[in-house]
Amino acid sequence: MSNKKWSNQNINDLSGKVVIVTGGNSGLGYESSKALASKGATVIVASRKLERAGQAVEKLKTEVPGGQFELMKLDLSSLDSVREFVAEFSVKYEKLDILMNNAGIMAVPAGKTKDGFESQLGVNHLGHFALTGLLLDKLEAAESSRVVNVASLAADNGSINFDDLMSEKDYSKFGAYSQSKLANILFTQELNERLEKAGFSTRSMVAHPGGSKTNLAEGSDFSPFMKFLANGLFSIIAQPAWKGALPQLYAATEPQAEAGAYYGPDGFNEFSGYPKKAKLPQSAQNLNAQRKLWDVSEELTGISYLSN
Ligand SMILES: NC(=O)c1ccc[n+]([C@@H]2O[C@H](COP(=O)([O-])OP(=O)(O)OC[C@H]3O[C@@H](n4cnc5c(N)ncnc54)[C@H](OP(=O)(O)O)[C@@H]3O)[C@@H](O)[C@H]2O)c1
Repeated sequence: MSNKKWSNQNINDLSGKVVIVTGGNSGLGYESSKALASKGATVIVASRKLERAGQAVEKLKTEVPGGQFELMKLDLSSLDSVREFVAEFSVKYEKLDILMNNAGIMAVPAGKTKDGFESQLGVNHLGHFALTGLLLDKLEAAESSRVVNVASLAADNGSINFDDLMSEKDYSKFGAYSQSKLANILFTQELNERLEKAGFSTRSMVAHPGGSKTNLAEGSDFSPFMKFLANGLFSIIAQPAWKGALPQLYAATEPQAEAGAYYGPDGFNEFSGYPKKAKLPQSAQNLNAQRKLWDVSEELTGISYLSN
């Protein structure tokens, strides 16, 4: 089957597989949860707001009759919450087949996570870095498990500002978003290399959804003009969320997906379409940045794993 029209119906049977989708209650995470449960996976919808997410999970259950969903609390802006989530998951489940690090925030007002990290780097990258490390033994307990990170075309404009990682000297809402999304790609590559080197069977991939209609702009600190663009123009040209979720679903489930690779839509400028290998941003090919980001992430979160 050519990747050109790879879609939900191409996902293999996932009976017996255990999956975590962070931010599984909304947008791309919701569509991913739905597609994965439709193929028989048990899906843990990991969400920060239980009431709001509870409604989404009820909807998922009606859309996938007989689907196995479990809602669990996870706030990526708190390392304590990440630890509590992993503790709860570990009591309930023996293994983890797919960790889909999907949750994210974009262009939010300047702010900090509970641990004092710049919000976008904290939620989009550091929270997922910690989560992945704490779940590593559960991933290894599954056969050929995968970690899938969700980046963005915004990573193309990103750079990791090691001199001011938390944007304390100068905060740009889009700059911080691009930095965090570039971090998702660098993290994926370094993670995959370390997994291979350590002889682990878990592999790591990264995907981006092009432009997709979701709730991502809801929490953004947009000017009235940007809001107009987001609600008007963007919603006309962007693809539906189910289609935007295809690259991350491909990375998570397709046997032919390559370890460490980056997937995105195949249309013009990778804005929409069906999954294919995405163009790796120039700044994501910097091995020094890749390694340095790992070291800094360990230091900041206090969670070390796959050490060289
Ligand atoms: N939509 C696009 O065009 C686009 C483009 C490029 C990349 N992306 C990426 O796609 C991913 C999914 O976003 P989306 O577009 O589907 O947006 P969305 O509909 O807003 O979904 C984002 C999800 O992340 C959750 N989340 C936010 N902060 C969290 C936290 N502290 N702890 C746990 N969960 C948290 C949200 O929870 P709540 O429901 O409680 O807010 C929501 O479930 C993000 O990583 C985003 O950067 C999206």
